[in-house]
Amino acid sequence: MQRIRIPSVPSSEITPRPVWEDRRRFLRAAAGGAAAALLLARPGQAAVSRPGRLAPIADLQETAHGKDLKPTDYDDFTSYNNFVELGVSKEAPANNAHLLRTRPWTLKVEGECEAPGEIGIEDILTQFSQEERIYRLRCVETWAAVVPWVGVPLSLVLARFKPTSKAKFVELESISDPDRLPGQRRPVLPWPYVEGLRIDEAMHPLTLLATGCYGEVLPGQNGAPLRLVVPWKYGFKSAKSIVRIRFVEEMPETTWVRLQPDEYGFYANVNPTVDHPRWSQARERPIGEGLFARRRQTQMFNGYAEQVADLYRGMDLSRHY
Ligand code: MTE
Repeated sequence: MQRIRIPSVPSSEITPRPVWEDRRRFLRAAAGGAAAALLLARPGQAAVSRPGRLAPIADLQETAHGKDLKPTDYDDFTSYNNFVELGVSKEAPANNAHLLRTRPWTLKVEGECEAPGEIGIEDILTQFSQEERIYRLRCVETWAAVVPWVGVPLSLVLARFKPTSKAKFVELESISDPDRLPGQRRPVLPWPYVEGLRIDEAMHPLTLLATGCYGEVLPGQNGAPLRLVVPWKYGFKSAKSIVRIRFVEEMPETTWVRLQPDEYGFYANVNPTVDHPRWSQARERPIGEGLFARRRQTQMFNGYAEQVADLYRGMDLSRHY
């Protein structure tokens, strides 16, 4: 199998994240007093305060998921991203997000189902309940975020297309638009980006098709207009800007498994007891907390063991990583 590696940027060109984080925190502290007061004074504020950058999502239904968690700062979550279609560096997706065209947008659903077809983004936004759920997201490298997602349970959307008993997995495919997206003009990854879930994972009530975050529509860099969120898995399972979902009988070959099967498995469950070949996964650093933040213990299934451990009963998770 051909191995493609993401080209690395010379270290001299990279400002270490903790350095720019601290610099930004300083700037924010200097300029932020008045803004913070304004935010606090805003009337009708929801449990999670909206940053007021993008269009608000109306008639949100709040759920109890993660109510005890403190959301990551919006600026941190939207300025440090992986979305290779928009560029390789962590800053490129935010800088290039304007290139992503999110309307019109159609999700095609096909494969092992009785009613293959398609559904437009506006129908997804209006025909299914929009829920706001606070979930942890943990990226495989170093960082963890707590995000108030807005979305619809993936199971509701999938059920409409009537999967058959042959649908053992789903394959999710992201946008293909090399004319507009700079990362897709180079073979940095095999395009399009592909993710997959076992059907019971896809139908699990915690799994969301996200359409927004922090009470607003999803920013391009975070996967607008439709993105997968599976809170007990590593962040790389979060396929962004999804255009197609296919019900399949065999386990799909996902982008990261195709690239580096020894490092990234199909399941990608957060598991502090199974190390990545190049680093320990036992501890994590909250995104936005800077150089001196204490790393904390990573929790099994990212803290969702009670809800999902049964899906993997009897499996050797060091082999099925
Ligand atoms: N989806 C697409 N289409 N392209 C990508 O490059 N990167 C993945 C995932 N989804 C990626 C993608 C990786 S490696 C991570 S860690 C998460 O998106 C990051 O999501 P975030 O930027 O919203 O934190």
